[in-house]
Amino acid sequence: MPPHKPTIGILTSGGDCPGLNAVIRAAVKSSERHGYDSVGFLRGYEGLVEPVSYMPLTARNTASILTQGGTILGSTNKGRFSATVGENERIAIDPALLDQVATTVRQLSICGLICVGGDGSLAIAQQFHEHGIPVVGVPKTIDNDLGATAFTFGFDSAVACATDALDRLHTTAASHERIMVLEVMGRHAGWIALHSGIAGGGDVILLPEIPWTFENVCRKVRERESEGKKFTLIVVAEGAHLPDVGLVHREDVNGPAVERRRQVKLGGIGERVAAELARLLDREVRTVVLGHLQRGGNPTTFDRVLATEFGAHAVRLIHQGQCGQMVCYRPPNIESVPIAEAIRTLSRVDTGSSAVQAARALGISFGDSADLASPFAGRCEDPCAGDAPSRGC
Ligand code: F6P
Repeated sequence: MPPHKPTIGILTSGGDCPGLNAVIRAAVKSSERHGYDSVGFLRGYEGLVEPVSYMPLTARNTASILTQGGTILGSTNKGRFSATVGENERIAIDPALLDQVATTVRQLSICGLICVGGDGSLAIAQQFHEHGIPVVGVPKTIDNDLGATAFTFGFDSAVACATDALDRLHTTAASHERIMVLEVMGRHAGWIALHSGIAGGGDVILLPEIPWTFENVCRKVRERESEGKKFTLIVVAEGAHLPDVGLVHREDVNGPAVERRRQVKLGGIGERVAAELARLLDREVRTVVLGHLQRGGNPTTFDRVLATEFGAHAVRLIHQGQCGQMVCYRPPNIESVPIAEAIRTLSRVDTGSSAVQAARALGISFGDSADLASPFAGRCEDPCAGDAPSRGC
């Protein structure tokens, strides 16, 4: 039986992350207060097409999900909908599928469909919009790689997980005087590696955005040893480029062949880094691949708040008839941008950012030659010049 009242649909698409349920709960609660019914489509965009699958959502049946990781609606980054291949290439969705979606939306009196997803999922939402289907986007991804928003929810929780892993590695690395390599996710952006590396006291952080060499990493390890620090923690982003090799792909032996061709799975760089360092330094090196642990578990406080604000704002946009928009966080405000604009720019670590500068100032190595120069080189002449009291520079 189709619902009678104007209804807001919601779906979660792509890789899951902590905070998805918080968005669902916020959207449902605020929909009710605006006088809408809500339905949730199951398994991402797949739920919109034959066999159509959805569940009614109410404030009551979403009451206890704020703190819960994953998504009660299920999600997939595979299936019949795909609008991206590789890093930037867009592909068109089958028009017959788009027609099926339009039919489902009409039959269920959906006045707005909230699509919660990352770059690839939002590229699908944009094609829905161009097909006349009323959509609003909500950005999620642990990778934090969407240019239009300062943060995506899920990122903070992933960083907390990676930081906790580094805290644990710290004690065992120190006890055994080992080099430990932690491989973290993030696709082509180094946000998780950078933030967890700083928060977890990493000594070397290898990012996709900063070309690095083994020679420089070895130099950092030896420098630490000469200072009496017999262990080194190295954080490597899965999308960092291995010198002379480039991106390291995981051999994806699972799933249908068509999906394996479509999706390149990053991963495996941690082992490669460890093996080469063990050879070059003749030292014990161990690797930990954090993998999907970063996507699981409860959202942090920050992610709960951000996800809640995103969910409520998405409903507000639908209520105001502003479809085709994606909610975004532009501190201190939650705003919106056209989805088309949001998917155009990926966000990567700015190598001149204050976070990178602070890390360098602390002696964290990015494996590049900039580490060789003092971060304060050339800067202490003025303050100490002339009549200024000496600061011992
Ligand atoms: O985009 C989120 C993400 O977790 C990436 O960091 C990672 O490369 C990818 O998804 C893993 O995808 P899958 O869950 O298909 O292995």
